Amino acid sequence: MLTQPLRDEHAELLPHVEALRVAADAIGESSATELAAKVREAEEFLTGHLIPHAKAEDDALYPIIDTLLGAPGATRTMSLDHVEVGRQTRLLGEMKAKMASGVLTRPQENELRMVLYGLYVLVELHFHKEEEAYLPLLDQRLTQGDATRMFEAMEAAATKAKGV
Ligand SMILES: [Fe+2]
Ligand SMILES: [Fe+2]
Repeated sequence: MLTQPLRDEHAELLPHVEALRVAADAIGESSATELAAKVREAEEFLTGHLIPHAKAEDDALYPIIDTLLGAPGATRTMSLDHVEVGRQTRLLGEMKAKMASGVLTRPQENELRMVLYGLYVLVELHFHKEEEAYLPLLDQRLTQGDATRMFEAMEAAATKAKGV
């Protein structure tokens, strides 16, 4: 399948998405230190891996889907999912800072739980939509050359987004 590299990338990211749910489960169960470590790892994954992946899709994948569908703006709803992931990740960063300066209050714990479960559901569903609705279209319509160029452009965009 032409899109196998993208499916593989999702498969590599998915355990870290699952870890968001595990971190939410740990609230009120694990020690403050353990929970803080989980939140820190979650934020590092989101900012260091997931958001660059989303940026690469916005730059180099979704424009191709728009063209194949013959509908400019068709992927806008999916880009808005990426924007929401960014917003929730910033909230998580703020909560991480609060955790560093003391124990969370009960309302803060509830807010953290909501952000982590929310991100988990949002990202799982988003991956599912890409794999079910977009990747089959690419597999049917792209040539090997198109796919190679697309993956090179995605990699360049992700590297740029990671700032390395
Ligand atoms: Fe995406
Ligand atoms: Fe994706």
